This record gives sequence, C-alpha cells and structure tokens, in this order.
Amino acid sequence: MGLFGEKKEDYKNKKSIIIYFSRADENYFGGAMKYIEKGNTEVIAEYIRDITGSDMFKVEPLEPYSANYMQCIEEAKDRTRSHNAPIKANVPDLSSYELIYLGSPVYWGGMPEELFTALKGLDYTGKTIRPFVTHEGSGLSSIPNQLKDICIGGTVIDGLAILGSTVNSAKNKVENWI
Ligand SMILES: Cc1cc2nc3c(=O)[nH]c(=O)nc-3n(C[C@H](O)[C@H](O)[C@H](O)COP(=O)(O)O)c2cc1C
Repeated sequence: MGLFGEKKEDYKNKKSIIIYFSRADENYFGGAMKYIEKGNTEVIAEYIRDITGSDMFKVEPLEPYSANYMQCIEEAKDRTRSHNAPIKANVPDLSSYELIYLGSPVYWGGMPEELFTALKGLDYTGKTIRPFVTHEGSGLSSIPNQLKDICIGGTVIDGLAILGSTVNSAKNKVENWI
C-alpha cells in the first residue's frame, strides 16, 4: 500500500518478458576506457530475470558493433542516421505476455537503432512496457518517448535509469523498482 492507501501495481504476477540490447567489449566508464565481458544493460536484465523469472530475449545486430569504443560510436551514429540496423533474429511472439521489461543503453540520446528494428510494427495492445536504461550521464533521455511512439496500443510507464559504471552494485535498486 502506498501513502494514500492506493495499491501498488502487482507486476510480479504478470507474465513477462525482458527484451534488451547490450554490448560488451570496450566501454567508457567515468573517464576511463575499460574492457567488459558483459554489457551493462545485460547485467540489469539478468537481475530482473533472477527477481521475476521472466523470459528473456536479447536483440543482436546482424553485424556486431566494433569492439573498439570510438569506432562503435561512429557506427551507432551511422545506423541511427540511416535507420539501417538489421538484427539476427526477430522478437518472439508476444501474444502471451502482459508485461515487457525493455532494456536499452543510451546511444546518442536514444535507443540503438537495432531496438527500433526489433520493436516496430508489433502488436502491443493491452501490454505494459517498463523501460530500464543504462547510461553514462544522460539518464532515461528520450527512450520512454521513443517507446511510446513505437509501442502502439501498449502503455509505457515508469522507467529505471542506472549509471553504467554502477551496475554491479545496483541489484537493490532493481529490486525496489520491481
Ligand atoms: C554508441 C554509444 C553512444 C552512447 N551515447 C550515450 C549518450 O548519449 N548518453 C549517455 O549517457 N551515455 C551514452 N553512451 C554510454 C552507454 O549508454 C553506457 O555505457 C551503457 O551502459 C552501455 O550499455 P551496454 O553495456 O549494455 O551496451 C553511449 C555508448 C555508446 C557505445
């Protein structure tokens, strides 16, 4: 129960799937380059799976981004500008899911183009979409609004933004949010 007696939405009992994009390799953390085995957004996606038991789907670029950070930045800019970002596999049938946890890094103030490719044109009628985002300073940026544009028929609600360099100690934050 909240302060005024309103009931907190019971997300845990809804059938859910985590759809996310995440890139490992070289990344930039608070002023330094660092190599990571697992992308930041993937770390958060796995917390959500551990807590909720949700199914999980990773959106993967057909052509992987460069392991080199600076090169990846340029590739991302090109893919966003050209709206050209084919993916390895399409999102699975969503008809049985009531709730979608949608995970994205912030790329140039929004989602990587691959998520647009993956999410456009699907049927979101009656579904709830909860964005979770990792970033290096921009917060949620335009991602909730981008999702509102794409997820026609669905309801996009309260997003969670986590600083990429803090994901390894963010499980409590994720638990509280869920
Ligand atoms: C191509 C690219 C663009 C980025 N643009 C932004 C940005 O606009 N704002 C921001 O705060 N962080 C930006 N970042 C940092 C990422 O959002 C951050 O490192 C995130 O945690 C990466 O998630 P991942 O490891 O799951 O891929 C960018 C990173 C990359 C690689």
